Amino acid sequence: MTVHPQPQPRAADRPRRKVFVKTYGCQMNVYDSQRMADALERDGYLPTSLAEEADLILLNTCHIREKAAEKVYSELGRLKKIKERRAGAGRATLIAVAGCVAQAEGEEIIARAPVVDLVVGPQSYHRLPEYLGRAAAGEAVVATDFAIEEKFASLPRPTAGRTRARGVTAFLTVQEGCDKFCTFCVVPYTRGQEVSRGVAQIMDEARRLAEAGVREITLIGQNVNAWHGQGPGGGRWRLADLLHAVAGIAGIDRLRYTTSHPIDMDEGLIAAHRDIAALMPYLHLPVQAGANRVLKAMNRHHSRDDYLDIVARLRAARPDVALSGDFIVGFPGESEAEFAETLDLVDAVGYASAFSFKYSPRPGTPGADLPGQVPEPVKAERLARLQERLNAQQFAFNQACVGRRTDILIEKPGRRDGQLAGRSPWLQTVIVDAGAGRIGDIVSVRITGAGPNSLTAVVDR
Ligand code: 5AD
Ligand code: SF4
Repeated sequence: MTVHPQPQPRAADRPRRKVFVKTYGCQMNVYDSQRMADALERDGYLPTSLAEEADLILLNTCHIREKAAEKVYSELGRLKKIKERRAGAGRATLIAVAGCVAQAEGEEIIARAPVVDLVVGPQSYHRLPEYLGRAAAGEAVVATDFAIEEKFASLPRPTAGRTRARGVTAFLTVQEGCDKFCTFCVVPYTRGQEVSRGVAQIMDEARRLAEAGVREITLIGQNVNAWHGQGPGGGRWRLADLLHAVAGIAGIDRLRYTTSHPIDMDEGLIAAHRDIAALMPYLHLPVQAGANRVLKAMNRHHSRDDYLDIVARLRAARPDVALSGDFIVGFPGESEAEFAETLDLVDAVGYASAFSFKYSPRPGTPGADLPGQVPEPVKAERLARLQERLNAQQFAFNQACVGRRTDILIEKPGRRDGQLAGRSPWLQTVIVDAGAGRIGDIVSVRITGAGPNSLTAVVDR
């Protein structure tokens, strides 16, 4: 599809309106919010962190669990008061809802929260300025069409100035959408079919990030390891090939990718963990549940043993790889014995970090209609037991790092004066003294202490 850029007056010629962006949910939303902020900046908006002074309030929402969606509605209740206060002072405020709640609920949002002026789904962000113009003219705009390639082609690329202000690590979307249809998940409905971004576009963006001072790139996608494309020579590329290519860009010293599905962990990708020095020894590999019957009911397309086998092969390829996972407790029909298999799998793997959730029936997904919905108190009790075990593993993993020498990438000032916060290869936050280096430096340290959520270290001279 051809995109015809509209001639735009220079931003400086127009009054500077302000935009407040609030992001919920996954890294994909963080990335999308940044691209939208870039598009709005080009359209004359200045970012603000105060909703009260914003002419445009943009909520980039998440629909993955009921709680996440409900948060948006309570936030809209608060924003209504702000909009009214500003109107009283003669200032107009546009409220836009983007993201997966926008995609899933469409005009329902305006019906339930008439304070909203614009509803825009993830596949329509590149047309945001146009929609805002229409909303400003009084139209209630609902844009939830699917045209994902067009979006990739026309959202502004990150520029050096903007990126520099954002730091030394960056997300880069390489793939969006999902065809897996796990029976609990709304993503295939809100983000649509799996679409991979082209190699040239990805490499161009990665080079720009490197030029802007980014040292660590995380390739992101709902199903990032399903990414595929055509290499410059015409051959079929999988994610491992892309990782090799991005690792070759001068200045990019660290690479990560997320989120992966077990069934797309091909041999090449596992080997990449052995062969690419820049690829960090950390993998987020959701398993969701430990019992085969539950995995089948979830439509995961893999068994418990398949998962354990992938973990074993990964560890053979890269012995220090740290695993992270996602878990759902209380999927319909999950018995106590089946839940115990999840605990047992956790013990078998040994996670460095994890995310775990109570099953939340999402309207329109097959799981929501299954018999045997698990009562809330049972879910809560199982979640508490699972989290206790996962937290203990995370703490144990952190403690096992004490005394180790490793590199950290210094990312930002620490919470206390005189400190800096960096990241270990295993994605742990590492606190060092300000004298350790500058933001963007990769420094060699010795880990001196471990808490449940972070490490302390000293420079290893
Ligand atoms: N209920 C609970 N957790 C869910 N997830 C996705 N859908 C649901 C749901 N309906 C979790 C999965 C997924 C993570 C992003 O969110 O664990 O990996
Ligand atoms: Fe959702 Fe499953 Fe697709 Fe992940 S793989 S986005 S959990 S449907």
